Amino acid sequence: MSDMMWGGRFTKAEEKNALDFNASISYDCRMYREDIAGSIAHAKMLAAHGIISKEDQEKITKGLLSIKKEIDEGTFPFSVELEDIHMNIEKRLTEEIGDAGARLHTARSRNDQCALDLHMYMKRNIARLSEKLIAVLEALLAASKKYQDVILPGYTHMQRAQPVLFAHHMLAYFAMLERDFKRLEDCYDMCDMSPIGACALAGTTYPTHPEEEANDLHFASVYGNSLDAVSDRDYLLQFLSFASICAMHLSRLSEEFIYWSTSEFQFIELDDGYSTGSSIMPQKKNPDMCELIRGKTGRVYGHLIGLLTVMKGLPLAYDKDMQEDKEGVFDALDTLYFALDIYAGMISTMTVNGDHTRQVLESDFSNATDMADYLAKKGLPFRQAHAVVGNAVHYCIEHHKVLLDLSMEEFRSMSPLFEEDIKEALSIENCVKNRESYGGTGPKSVERQQIHAGDMIAKMKEMSASWKEEMAFLG
Ligand code: ARG
Repeated sequence: MSDMMWGGRFTKAEEKNALDFNASISYDCRMYREDIAGSIAHAKMLAAHGIISKEDQEKITKGLLSIKKEIDEGTFPFSVELEDIHMNIEKRLTEEIGDAGARLHTARSRNDQCALDLHMYMKRNIARLSEKLIAVLEALLAASKKYQDVILPGYTHMQRAQPVLFAHHMLAYFAMLERDFKRLEDCYDMCDMSPIGACALAGTTYPTHPEEEANDLHFASVYGNSLDAVSDRDYLLQFLSFASICAMHLSRLSEEFIYWSTSEFQFIELDDGYSTGSSIMPQKKNPDMCELIRGKTGRVYGHLIGLLTVMKGLPLAYDKDMQEDKEGVFDALDTLYFALDIYAGMISTMTVNGDHTRQVLESDFSNATDMADYLAKKGLPFRQAHAVVGNAVHYCIEHHKVLLDLSMEEFRSMSPLFEEDIKEALSIENCVKNRESYGGTGPKSVERQQIHAGDMIAKMKEMSASWKEEMAFLG
């Protein structure tokens, strides 16, 4: 007989390489808090319904708490032979308290146990992650206020298009990350259902009360189908989808920060604290953080595709393939956590070169649409106004001028509708000021967006604090 915890029907020990290959302890040890809390709740439910004795429950609870202390303090003897966190803890408990420990796994399977742990782990870590996401949102809003008057060229096709307020640009990222927060909320809700009680796959013959365990562990509800409970990994896929979209947003911002800080653009300067130098070129200041975050987006996407692929051919209920769910999710959590943390600091400390962005705008044709609008507002059909301004731009390029360099004679030769006030209409300030349409870049519209952003941050903070409080029992 093998001396594994499941060794009864075996006649020889597992090969060493098979054992190593099977083990998940090196990474699922992260879920020890969840595993211990889950087992304490399980023992309580078993004792409440006479499935184990109160004395056994007390011994189990005490034993588990001292194991938690050992793990917290780094003295717990983890063993690869015991495969995963669940069996490491259970074996230790049984060594310490004897038969009572061996009764803990009544009316439970590692299949519902590992799913339970992962649900709680995700809830706790979504709460932690949400704080970092909010910190980036706060930094974006603060930057939009700090550089309230800075105007920079807005681009389409990477060609200068129309002037926009820097604040408006930051608030576009705010809007993206605000949606990410909503997605994170959905993720939390998806994780907020307890699979415990499903046992291996079919439920149990014992008079269990999974809703009591769920309640003790602060879950909103319990899975209604035991097969689904042990085989569902949708909540992880949903988290990885959120993580991929959020990483994509950070990657786009990274791309902008990278080119904005080139000598060619000089729109921003990243703080020295978030930049690195070159080992050979003394003049260099490199945006490594942005590049790394852009680069790490690839691995987050990889984890999403990886788990989707793991799951796509699996028959119900539990299959060992599903042990592959954790490493990618843990790495995505870590990657995003650090990326958001870096971003909050990087945005708060960067400098925006508003004088330079203004100079750039004064030397280009970003005000061409405003010139066409001027004519259209005087009655010329917009298509014709567009053509007049197109010709004017062509004329300016040939004569090395910008639109505001044109004399009144030149303006009038292009259209008799031009009057003195065209100069004012074409000023960079007015191009921005006049765009007060809903969601536009005009200062009043931007101020409305800032007020909305502030309100949203307050709501998100409330939500995040309630998650943190809900999961605080895990320690
Ligand atoms: N370490 C396993 C996992 O993470 C736990 C579940 C194992 N269940 C089983 N029947 N072998 O998936």
